[in-house]
Amino acid sequence: MPRTVLVVGVTGIAGYNTAQAMSAAGWRVLGLSRSHRYDIPGVEQVRGDVLDPESLDRALQGREFSHVVFTTWSRQETEAENRRVNSAMLANLLAAAGRASTLEHVALVTGLKHYLGPFDAYGEAPADTPFRESQGRLPVENFYYDQEDVLFAEAERQGFSWSVHRPHTLIGYALGNVMNMGVTLAVYGALCRATGDPFVFPGSPEQLNGITDLTDARLLGRHVLWSSTEPRARNQAFNTVNGEVFRWRQLWPQVAEALGVPAGEYPGHPTPLEGRMDHADEVWAGLVEAYDLAPYKASELASWWHTDADLGREMETFADMTKSRSLGFLDHQSTIESFTDLFAQLRDARIIPPLD
Ligand SMILES: NC(=O)c1ccc[n+]([C@@H]2O[C@H](COP(=O)([O-])OP(=O)(O)OC[C@H]3O[C@@H](n4cnc5c(N)ncnc54)[C@H](OP(=O)(O)O)[C@@H]3O)[C@@H](O)[C@H]2O)c1
Repeated sequence: MPRTVLVVGVTGIAGYNTAQAMSAAGWRVLGLSRSHRYDIPGVEQVRGDVLDPESLDRALQGREFSHVVFTTWSRQETEAENRRVNSAMLANLLAAAGRASTLEHVALVTGLKHYLGPFDAYGEAPADTPFRESQGRLPVENFYYDQEDVLFAEAERQGFSWSVHRPHTLIGYALGNVMNMGVTLAVYGALCRATGDPFVFPGSPEQLNGITDLTDARLLGRHVLWSSTEPRARNQAFNTVNGEVFRWRQLWPQVAEALGVPAGEYPGHPTPLEGRMDHADEVWAGLVEAYDLAPYKASELASWWHTDADLGREMETFADMTKSRSLGFLDHQSTIESFTDLFAQLRDARIIPPLD
């Protein structure tokens, strides 16, 4: 009998790629989200709302699974609201999963904002780089901490083991999700090719010149697969990054080349995409027509605000992977290939235009 995992938030960037990794490893994968959004190969998709316990009982009734990967969140106006809503989402899901099945292991995906602070207190008291799992919590409210506490309490109550994954910005396939820098840059590049506008790095000088890293969502999937089965990974939190540091001033020209557009000259200050991309939907409609692309709007594919927030940071952000490596997870990922593989996948799926 294959092992069965329930991936919660399966159409999102972390969920889709984790589901793919677990399916490729021979697992039966149940994938939960509120809407179907698109077909996911190798996944039995079920609909349920983690804010509605009754819908979860209906979705999970009669389904047996031993593992859960929780990869969903809901952005609220304030961190106080984020804490209330996002911890309830996890608590509801774990309670319903416990009613449906006997759980062995639950993996929770949070992020490096564990060390940076939440969006509305971003970098106010960041931890020191490189971020290490041994560093304590910041003295600011953060829904990730509440989710961890819900996880720890339910693990104790139900008797399952847990792992927490803290990725940096995720690069990978997902369509119409809330935060996706890879797809956003692909859309930005295609728009610049179409209009002749310069493909300018939109972020801060600190991000352009400082050391940073990223997380390929496929690597996150493989890391979650590992932590879900490796005895030494039980009840541990892990950073999840590609294992390669870089500076955006080095990577930007390579990303530009992969998108077939010249890299524009950096103006010395941030030029946020939000606001600069007001024409995007109109230009994109022309590209959809000209290249017979899938009928998305640019504003459905791109998350300008999120790429602005990440590339506009004024503090250094990168994470250490020694803990995972010392426990036997040696996987790593070339960052430029995170982008080139994604762009190829987006072209194959007719989401962005071909290069010629
Ligand atoms: N994206 C990044 O670059 C990034 C980087 C680092 C950390 N993270 C963290 O990773 C975690 C997962 O984020 P993500 O970016 O992968 O999320 P995402 O791409 O926005 O996907 C969210 C998924 O959850 C589903 N969902 C949303 N609300 C739901 C609800 N009430 N009930 C059931 N399903 C629901 C969505 O589908 P429906 O809307 O159809 O329900 C979708 O499948 C978050 O903690 C995030 O902060 C993300």
